[in-house]
Amino acid sequence: MWAWFRSETGGSFLELILVIDYGSGRAQSVAKKVRKQKVFSEIVSWPRAEQAVLERKPLGLITVGAPRGGLQDRLEASNLPLWPLGSVLPAPADLDEFLEKCGCSRDWTWDRFIEETIEEIRAQVGSGRVICGLSGGLDSFTAAVLVHRALGDQLTSVFVDHGLLRHGESEQIVKIAQSGFRIPLVQVQAQERFLSKLKGIEDPEEKRKIIGTEFIRVFEEEAAKIGDAAYLVQGTLYSDLLESGAGQGQLVKSHHNVGGLPPDLNLELIEPLKSLFKSEVRSLAQKLNLPEEIVWRHPFPGPGLAIRIIGDVTSRKLEIVRRADAVVREEIQKAGYYRKIWQALVVLTNIRTVGIESGVRTYDYVLALRFVNSEDGVHAEWSRVPHQLLGRISGRLLNEVKGVSRVVYDLSSKPPATIEWE
Ligand code: XMP
Repeated sequence: MWAWFRSETGGSFLELILVIDYGSGRAQSVAKKVRKQKVFSEIVSWPRAEQAVLERKPLGLITVGAPRGGLQDRLEASNLPLWPLGSVLPAPADLDEFLEKCGCSRDWTWDRFIEETIEEIRAQVGSGRVICGLSGGLDSFTAAVLVHRALGDQLTSVFVDHGLLRHGESEQIVKIAQSGFRIPLVQVQAQERFLSKLKGIEDPEEKRKIIGTEFIRVFEEEAAKIGDAAYLVQGTLYSDLLESGAGQGQLVKSHHNVGGLPPDLNLELIEPLKSLFKSEVRSLAQKLNLPEEIVWRHPFPGPGLAIRIIGDVTSRKLEIVRRADAVVREEIQKAGYYRKIWQALVVLTNIRTVGIESGVRTYDYVLALRFVNSEDGVHAEWSRVPHQLLGRISGRLLNEVKGVSRVVYDLSSKPPATIEWE
Protein backbone atom coordinates (compact mmCIF):
# COMPACT_ATOMS: atom_id res chain seq x y z
CA MET A 1 0.00 0.00 0.00
CA TRP A 2 2.81 2.36 0.84
CA ALA A 3 4.26 2.44 -2.67
CA TRP A 4 0.83 3.33 -4.00
CA PHE A 5 0.32 5.79 -1.23
CA ARG A 6 3.68 7.41 -1.85
CA SER A 7 3.06 8.03 -5.51
CA GLU A 8 -0.49 9.14 -4.78
CA THR A 9 0.51 11.79 -2.28
CA GLY A 10 2.99 13.23 -4.73
CA GLY A 11 4.90 14.86 -1.97
CA SER A 12 7.32 17.09 -3.79
CA PHE A 13 7.98 18.77 -0.46
CA LEU A 14 11.57 18.06 0.25
CA GLU A 15 11.41 18.63 3.95
CA LEU A 16 9.44 15.85 5.49
CA ILE A 17 8.91 14.61 9.02
CA LEU A 18 7.64 11.07 9.14
CA VAL A 19 5.14 10.32 11.88
CA ILE A 20 5.32 6.60 12.65
CA ASP A 21 2.11 5.29 14.09
CA TYR A 22 2.23 2.38 16.53
CA GLY A 23 -1.57 2.36 16.51
CA SER A 24 -2.17 5.03 19.13
CA GLY A 25 -4.95 6.94 17.37
CA ARG A 26 -2.99 10.16 17.88
CA ALA A 27 -0.82 10.20 14.80
CA GLN A 28 -3.12 12.58 12.91
CA SER A 29 -3.01 15.16 15.70
CA VAL A 30 0.78 14.94 15.79
CA ALA A 31 1.08 15.25 12.00
CA LYS A 32 -1.20 18.30 12.04
CA LYS A 33 0.90 19.94 14.74
CA VAL A 34 4.07 19.46 12.69
CA ARG A 35 2.40 20.95 9.63
CA LYS A 36 1.27 23.94 11.68
CA GLN A 37 4.98 24.60 12.22
CA LYS A 38 5.29 24.84 8.41
CA VAL A 39 6.98 21.49 7.98
CA PHE A 40 5.27 18.87 5.83
CA SER A 41 4.57 15.60 7.60
CA GLU A 42 3.20 12.23 6.60
CA ILE A 43 1.89 9.34 8.64
CA VAL A 44 3.00 5.79 8.16
CA SER A 45 1.85 2.77 10.15
CA TRP A 46 4.72 1.02 11.90
CA PRO A 47 5.03 -2.13 9.73
CA ARG A 48 5.78 0.13 6.77
CA ALA A 49 8.08 2.51 8.58
CA GLU A 50 11.45 1.23 7.41
CA GLN A 51 10.45 1.13 3.77
CA ALA A 52 9.02 4.65 4.09
CA VAL A 53 12.23 5.97 5.63
CA LEU A 54 14.17 4.64 2.65
CA GLU A 55 11.75 5.96 0.06
CA ARG A 56 10.68 9.26 1.54
CA LYS A 57 14.00 10.41 2.96
CA PRO A 58 12.57 12.32 5.91
CA LEU A 59 14.54 14.82 7.95
CA GLY A 60 13.29 13.35 11.21
CA LEU A 61 11.07 10.69 12.74
CA ILE A 62 8.42 10.94 15.42
CA THR A 63 7.00 7.73 16.83
CA VAL A 64 3.55 7.80 18.39
CA GLY A 65 2.27 5.10 20.74
CA ALA A 66 3.97 2.17 22.42
CA PRO A 67 6.86 0.69 20.36
CA ARG A 68 6.52 -2.77 18.86
CA GLY A 69 8.66 -5.49 17.42
CA GLY A 70 12.14 -4.05 17.98
CA LEU A 71 11.45 -1.39 15.39
CA GLN A 72 12.37 1.46 17.70
CA ASP A 73 15.97 0.19 18.01
CA ARG A 74 16.31 -0.16 14.27
CA LEU A 75 14.92 3.35 13.73
CA GLU A 76 17.39 4.72 16.24
CA ALA A 77 20.16 3.10 14.25
CA SER A 78 19.07 5.07 11.17
CA ASN A 79 20.89 8.13 12.53
CA LEU A 80 17.94 10.38 11.85
CA PRO A 81 16.68 12.59 14.69
CA LEU A 82 14.08 10.43 16.43
CA TRP A 83 11.48 11.59 18.91
CA PRO A 84 9.65 8.80 20.76
CA LEU A 85 6.48 10.59 21.75
CA GLY A 86 4.68 7.66 23.32
CA SER A 87 1.14 8.61 24.17
CA VAL A 88 1.56 12.33 24.87
CA LEU A 89 1.00 15.13 22.39
CA PRO A 90 4.04 17.34 21.75
CA ALA A 91 4.30 20.63 23.61
CA PRO A 92 4.91 23.48 21.13
CA ALA A 93 8.32 24.39 22.57
CA ASP A 94 9.54 20.78 22.44
CA LEU A 95 8.30 20.36 18.89
CA ASP A 96 10.05 23.56 17.96
CA GLU A 97 13.29 22.28 19.39
CA PHE A 98 12.95 18.93 17.59
CA LEU A 99 12.30 20.58 14.22
CA GLU A 100 15.37 22.77 14.81
CA LYS A 101 17.40 19.63 15.46
CA CYS A 102 16.14 18.14 12.19
CA GLY A 103 17.34 21.24 10.34
CA CYS A 104 13.91 22.10 8.92
CA SER A 105 13.70 25.46 7.19
CA ARG A 106 9.92 25.66 7.74
CA ASP A 107 8.84 26.80 4.34
CA TRP A 108 5.73 24.66 3.87
CA THR A 109 3.40 27.59 3.32
CA TRP A 110 0.10 27.86 1.47
CA ASP A 111 1.70 29.99 -1.23
CA ARG A 112 4.23 27.26 -1.81
CA PHE A 113 1.60 24.53 -1.73
CA ILE A 114 -0.55 26.36 -4.29
CA GLU A 115 2.39 27.08 -6.55
CA GLU A 116 3.69 23.50 -6.51
CA THR A 117 0.26 21.95 -6.88
CA ILE A 118 -0.49 24.12 -9.88
CA GLU A 119 2.80 23.07 -11.46
CA GLU A 120 2.04 19.40 -10.80
CA ILE A 121 -1.43 19.67 -12.33
CA ARG A 122 -0.07 21.38 -15.43
CA ALA A 123 2.63 18.73 -15.80
CA GLN A 124 0.06 15.93 -15.43
CA VAL A 125 -2.54 17.31 -17.82
CA GLY A 126 -0.66 19.25 -20.46
CA SER A 127 -3.26 20.49 -22.89
CA GLY A 128 -5.88 17.82 -22.02
CA ARG A 129 -9.47 18.47 -21.03
CA VAL A 130 -10.61 18.01 -17.47
CA ILE A 131 -14.00 17.62 -15.81
CA CYS A 132 -15.08 17.79 -12.21
CA GLY A 133 -18.29 17.18 -10.32
CA LEU A 134 -19.10 20.24 -8.28
CA SER A 135 -21.26 19.52 -5.26
CA GLY A 136 -20.94 22.80 -3.42
CA GLY A 137 -19.05 21.16 -0.59
CA LEU A 138 -15.77 22.58 0.59
CA ASP A 139 -13.55 19.84 -0.85
CA SER A 140 -14.94 19.70 -4.36
CA PHE A 141 -15.08 23.49 -4.57
CA THR A 142 -11.52 23.96 -3.37
CA ALA A 143 -10.23 21.28 -5.72
CA ALA A 144 -12.09 22.85 -8.65
CA VAL A 145 -10.75 26.33 -7.91
CA LEU A 146 -7.20 25.04 -7.67
CA VAL A 147 -7.46 23.12 -10.94
CA HIS A 148 -9.09 26.10 -12.61
CA ARG A 149 -6.18 28.27 -11.51
CA ALA A 150 -3.83 25.77 -13.08
CA LEU A 151 -5.67 25.09 -16.32
CA GLY A 152 -8.28 27.80 -16.87
CA ASP A 153 -10.93 26.82 -19.37
CA GLN A 154 -9.50 23.36 -19.94
CA LEU A 155 -11.68 22.58 -16.92
CA THR A 156 -15.44 22.11 -17.11
CA SER A 157 -17.36 21.46 -13.95
CA VAL A 158 -20.66 19.65 -13.83
CA PHE A 159 -23.27 20.50 -11.26
CA VAL A 160 -26.11 18.02 -10.94
CA ASP A 161 -29.18 19.32 -9.15
CA HIS A 162 -30.81 16.11 -7.94
CA GLY A 163 -33.57 18.02 -6.15
CA LEU A 164 -32.31 16.83 -2.77
CA LEU A 165 -30.42 20.02 -1.94
CA ARG A 166 -31.14 22.61 0.70
CA HIS A 167 -33.08 25.80 0.18
CA GLY A 168 -31.25 28.26 -2.10
CA GLU A 169 -28.20 26.02 -2.36
CA SER A 170 -28.23 25.29 -6.04
CA GLU A 171 -28.48 29.00 -6.99
CA GLN A 172 -25.74 29.88 -4.53
CA ILE A 173 -23.27 27.29 -5.80
CA VAL A 174 -23.84 28.17 -9.44
CA LYS A 175 -23.45 31.88 -8.71
CA ILE A 176 -20.19 31.47 -6.80
CA ALA A 177 -18.70 29.12 -9.40
CA GLN A 178 -19.72 31.19 -12.40
CA SER A 179 -19.53 34.80 -11.36
CA GLY A 180 -17.06 34.50 -8.49
CA PHE A 181 -14.52 32.19 -10.13
CA ARG A 182 -15.62 32.04 -13.77
CA ILE A 183 -15.33 28.26 -13.82
CA PRO A 184 -17.05 26.89 -16.93
CA LEU A 185 -20.09 25.11 -15.55
CA VAL A 186 -22.65 22.71 -16.96
CA GLN A 187 -25.84 22.63 -14.90
CA VAL A 188 -28.04 19.58 -15.03
CA GLN A 189 -31.61 19.78 -13.76
CA ALA A 190 -32.36 16.21 -12.77
CA GLN A 191 -34.91 16.68 -9.98
CA GLU A 192 -37.72 14.72 -11.62
CA ARG A 193 -35.40 11.94 -12.65
CA PHE A 194 -34.16 11.34 -9.09
CA LEU A 195 -37.57 11.70 -7.48
CA SER A 196 -39.14 9.16 -9.80
CA LYS A 197 -36.31 6.66 -9.18
CA LEU A 198 -36.80 7.09 -5.43
CA LYS A 199 -40.56 6.65 -5.54
CA GLY A 200 -41.74 4.17 -2.90
CA ILE A 201 -38.20 3.23 -1.80
CA GLU A 202 -37.95 3.00 1.97
CA ASP A 203 -34.71 1.18 2.67
CA PRO A 204 -31.82 3.59 3.45
CA GLU A 205 -29.16 1.57 1.64
CA GLU A 206 -31.35 1.17 -1.40
CA LYS A 207 -31.96 4.92 -1.47
CA ARG A 208 -28.26 5.62 -1.22
CA LYS A 209 -27.45 3.18 -4.02
CA ILE A 210 -30.14 4.54 -6.32
CA ILE A 211 -28.93 8.11 -5.83
CA GLY A 212 -25.26 7.11 -6.27
CA THR A 213 -25.95 5.13 -9.45
CA GLU A 214 -28.23 7.75 -10.94
CA PHE A 215 -25.70 10.44 -10.21
CA ILE A 216 -23.02 8.51 -12.08
CA ARG A 217 -25.38 7.99 -15.03
CA VAL A 218 -26.12 11.71 -15.26
CA PHE A 219 -22.47 12.56 -14.90
CA GLU A 220 -21.44 10.08 -17.59
CA GLU A 221 -23.99 11.52 -20.00
CA GLU A 222 -22.63 15.01 -19.43
CA ALA A 223 -19.02 13.86 -19.66
CA ALA A 224 -19.83 12.28 -23.02
CA LYS A 225 -21.24 15.61 -24.23
CA ILE A 226 -18.05 17.40 -23.20
CA GLY A 227 -16.35 14.90 -25.45
CA ASP A 228 -12.64 14.53 -25.15
CA ALA A 229 -12.21 14.88 -21.38
CA ALA A 230 -9.44 12.60 -20.17
CA TYR A 231 -9.12 13.72 -16.56
CA LEU A 232 -11.41 13.87 -13.55
CA VAL A 233 -10.87 16.08 -10.50
CA GLN A 234 -11.64 14.57 -7.13
CA GLY A 235 -11.56 16.21 -3.72
CA THR A 236 -9.91 13.19 -2.06
CA LEU A 237 -8.36 14.09 1.29
CA TYR A 238 -5.36 12.68 3.13
CA SER A 239 -7.64 11.03 5.67
CA ASP A 240 -9.44 9.22 2.80
CA LEU A 241 -6.11 7.77 1.70
CA LEU A 242 -5.18 6.78 5.23
CA GLU A 243 -8.56 5.15 5.77
CA SER A 244 -8.65 3.29 2.49
CA GLY A 245 -5.09 2.10 3.06
CA ALA A 246 -5.98 0.75 6.44
CA GLY A 247 -8.46 -1.50 4.63
CA GLN A 248 -10.39 -2.13 7.78
CA GLY A 249 -13.92 -1.91 8.99
CA GLN A 250 -17.23 -3.16 7.77
CA LEU A 251 -19.65 -1.22 5.68
CA VAL A 252 -21.79 1.00 7.87
CA LYS A 253 -23.31 3.09 5.10
CA SER A 254 -22.42 3.20 1.44
CA HIS A 255 -21.30 6.78 1.19
CA HIS A 256 -22.18 8.62 -1.90
CA ASN A 257 -20.05 11.67 -2.33
CA VAL A 258 -21.15 13.78 -5.26
CA GLY A 259 -17.52 14.66 -5.85
CA GLY A 260 -16.50 11.03 -5.51
CA LEU A 261 -17.12 9.31 -8.82
CA PRO A 262 -15.76 5.85 -9.55
CA PRO A 263 -12.47 5.62 -11.42
CA ASP A 264 -14.05 3.20 -13.94
CA LEU A 265 -15.34 6.28 -15.73
CA ASN A 266 -12.10 5.75 -17.61
CA LEU A 267 -10.69 9.11 -16.71
CA GLU A 268 -7.34 9.76 -15.07
CA LEU A 269 -7.73 11.24 -11.60
CA ILE A 270 -6.45 14.61 -10.44
CA GLU A 271 -6.51 14.81 -6.65
CA PRO A 272 -4.97 18.12 -5.59
CA LEU A 273 -6.03 17.81 -1.92
CA LYS A 274 -4.76 14.30 -1.34
CA SER A 275 -2.03 15.38 1.07
CA LEU A 276 -4.28 17.60 3.21
CA PHE A 277 -6.44 17.17 6.28
CA LYS A 278 -9.93 18.67 6.29
CA SER A 279 -8.93 21.52 8.62
CA GLU A 280 -6.08 22.36 6.23
CA VAL A 281 -8.47 22.44 3.27
CA ARG A 282 -10.35 25.19 5.15
CA SER A 283 -7.16 27.25 5.42
CA LEU A 284 -6.33 26.61 1.77
CA ALA A 285 -9.85 27.61 0.73
CA GLN A 286 -9.46 30.89 2.60
CA LYS A 287 -6.13 31.46 0.89
CA LEU A 288 -7.86 30.85 -2.47
CA ASN A 289 -10.50 33.44 -1.54
CA LEU A 290 -13.43 31.08 -1.44
CA PRO A 291 -16.38 32.80 0.21
CA GLU A 292 -17.11 32.25 3.88
CA GLU A 293 -20.31 30.35 3.12
CA ILE A 294 -18.31 27.65 1.37
CA VAL A 295 -15.33 27.68 3.74
CA TRP A 296 -17.46 27.23 6.84
CA ARG A 297 -20.31 25.23 5.33
CA HIS A 298 -21.37 22.28 7.46
CA PRO A 299 -20.76 18.91 5.81
CA PHE A 300 -23.69 17.85 3.66
CA PRO A 301 -24.04 14.28 2.42
CA GLY A 302 -24.04 13.43 -1.27
CA PRO A 303 -27.52 11.82 -1.13
CA GLY A 304 -28.73 15.09 0.38
CA LEU A 305 -32.08 15.48 2.07
CA ALA A 306 -33.19 12.04 0.88
CA ILE A 307 -31.36 10.42 3.80
CA ARG A 308 -32.88 12.92 6.22
CA ILE A 309 -36.35 11.65 5.41
CA ILE A 310 -36.93 8.30 7.05
CA GLY A 311 -38.83 6.05 4.68
CA ASP A 312 -39.95 6.99 1.22
CA VAL A 313 -39.13 10.36 -0.28
CA THR A 314 -41.91 12.52 -1.66
CA SER A 315 -41.91 16.13 -2.80
CA ARG A 316 -44.11 17.08 0.15
CA LYS A 317 -41.71 15.55 2.66
CA LEU A 318 -38.79 17.18 0.87
CA GLU A 319 -40.52 20.51 1.15
CA ILE A 320 -41.03 20.04 4.93
CA VAL A 321 -37.45 19.07 5.62
CA ARG A 322 -36.08 21.79 3.33
CA ARG A 323 -38.09 24.51 5.05
CA ALA A 324 -37.18 23.17 8.47
CA ASP A 325 -33.49 23.07 7.56
CA ALA A 326 -33.62 26.71 6.42
CA VAL A 327 -35.16 27.77 9.74
CA VAL A 328 -32.56 25.84 11.73
CA ARG A 329 -29.65 27.31 9.81
CA GLU A 330 -31.03 30.81 10.11
CA GLU A 331 -31.50 30.58 13.89
CA ILE A 332 -28.12 28.98 14.50
CA GLN A 333 -26.44 31.67 12.46
CA LYS A 334 -28.34 34.45 14.23
CA ALA A 335 -27.30 33.04 17.60
CA GLY A 336 -23.63 32.92 16.51
CA TYR A 337 -23.56 29.12 16.78
CA TYR A 338 -22.98 28.08 13.18
CA ARG A 339 -19.22 27.70 13.56
CA LYS A 340 -19.48 26.29 17.07
CA ILE A 341 -21.52 23.33 15.79
CA TRP A 342 -19.75 20.94 13.43
CA GLN A 343 -22.93 19.85 11.70
CA ALA A 344 -26.61 20.65 12.28
CA LEU A 345 -29.35 18.71 10.61
CA VAL A 346 -33.07 18.10 10.72
CA VAL A 347 -34.64 14.70 10.19
CA LEU A 348 -38.20 14.05 9.18
CA THR A 349 -38.75 10.96 11.29
CA ASN A 350 -41.75 9.58 9.39
CA ILE A 351 -43.49 9.19 12.75
CA ARG A 352 -46.74 11.08 13.08
CA THR A 353 -48.17 12.14 16.42
CA VAL A 354 -51.32 13.78 17.62
CA GLY A 355 -51.31 17.53 18.09
CA ILE A 356 -53.77 20.37 18.36
CA GLU A 357 -54.14 23.47 16.25
CA SER A 358 -56.84 26.10 16.91
CA GLY A 359 -58.68 23.54 19.03
CA VAL A 360 -58.67 20.95 16.26
CA ARG A 361 -56.85 17.60 16.36
CA THR A 362 -53.87 17.24 14.02
CA TYR A 363 -51.83 14.18 13.11
CA ASP A 364 -48.50 15.37 11.76
CA TYR A 365 -44.79 14.56 11.59
CA VAL A 366 -42.14 14.59 14.31
CA LEU A 367 -38.96 16.44 13.36
CA ALA A 368 -35.68 15.53 15.04
CA LEU A 369 -32.88 18.05 15.45
CA ARG A 370 -29.40 16.56 15.31
CA PHE A 371 -26.53 18.93 16.16
CA VAL A 372 -23.08 17.45 16.64
CA ASN A 373 -19.55 18.45 17.45
CA SER A 374 -16.77 16.50 15.84
CA GLU A 375 -13.31 16.88 14.39
CA ASP A 376 -13.59 14.59 11.43
CA GLY A 377 -17.06 13.02 11.44
CA VAL A 378 -15.68 9.71 12.71
CA HIS A 379 -16.51 10.43 16.33
CA ALA A 380 -19.14 12.94 17.34
CA GLU A 381 -20.71 14.33 20.49
CA TRP A 382 -24.20 15.79 20.53
CA SER A 383 -23.89 19.57 20.85
CA ARG A 384 -24.68 21.18 24.17
CA VAL A 385 -26.43 24.23 22.74
CA PRO A 386 -28.40 26.63 24.95
CA HIS A 387 -32.00 25.67 25.66
CA GLN A 388 -33.11 29.13 24.56
CA LEU A 389 -31.76 28.46 21.08
CA LEU A 390 -33.51 25.09 20.89
CA GLY A 391 -36.69 26.75 22.13
CA ARG A 392 -36.56 29.41 19.43
CA ILE A 393 -35.96 26.83 16.73
CA SER A 394 -38.74 24.55 17.89
CA GLY A 395 -41.17 27.47 18.22
CA ARG A 396 -40.51 28.54 14.67
CA LEU A 397 -40.68 25.02 13.25
CA LEU A 398 -44.03 24.35 14.89
CA ASN A 399 -45.40 27.67 13.74
CA GLU A 400 -43.96 28.04 10.30
CA VAL A 401 -43.54 24.58 8.82
CA LYS A 402 -46.80 22.98 7.86
CA GLY A 403 -47.12 19.29 8.59
CA VAL A 404 -45.06 19.28 11.81
CA SER A 405 -46.59 18.40 15.18
CA ARG A 406 -43.56 17.92 17.40
CA VAL A 407 -39.81 18.63 17.60
CA VAL A 408 -37.27 16.49 19.48
CA TYR A 409 -33.51 16.79 20.06
CA ASP A 410 -31.19 13.83 19.39
CA LEU A 411 -28.90 13.09 22.37
CA SER A 412 -26.83 10.31 20.77
CA SER A 413 -23.10 10.37 20.34
CA LYS A 414 -21.25 8.62 17.53
CA PRO A 415 -20.54 5.79 18.08
CA PRO A 416 -22.87 4.03 18.55
CA ALA A 417 -25.23 6.31 16.60
CA THR A 418 -24.12 7.66 13.24
CA ILE A 419 -24.51 11.36 12.45
CA GLU A 420 -27.11 11.01 9.71
CA TRP A 421 -30.12 8.90 10.64
CA GLU A 422 -30.00 6.81 7.47
P1 XMP B 1 -22.40 9.28 9.35
O1 XMP B 1 -23.86 9.40 9.18
O2 XMP B 1 -21.79 8.12 8.62
O3 XMP B 1 -21.78 10.57 8.69
O4 XMP B 1 -21.97 9.30 10.79
C1 XMP B 1 -20.46 11.04 8.86
C2 XMP B 1 -20.32 12.29 8.00
O5 XMP B 1 -20.43 11.94 6.62
C3 XMP B 1 -21.53 12.59 6.03
N1 XMP B 1 -22.14 11.63 5.12
C4 XMP B 1 -21.90 11.61 3.80
N2 XMP B 1 -21.16 12.42 3.03
N3 XMP B 1 -21.79 11.19 1.15
C5 XMP B 1 -21.11 12.20 1.70
O6 XMP B 1 -20.48 12.95 0.98
C6 XMP B 1 -22.56 10.33 1.87
O7 XMP B 1 -23.16 9.42 1.34
C7 XMP B 1 -22.62 10.57 3.26
N4 XMP B 1 -23.27 9.94 4.28
C8 XMP B 1 -22.96 10.63 5.41
C9 XMP B 1 -22.43 13.00 7.16
O8 XMP B 1 -23.23 14.12 6.80
C10 XMP B 1 -21.42 13.32 8.24
O9 XMP B 1 -20.85 14.59 8.05
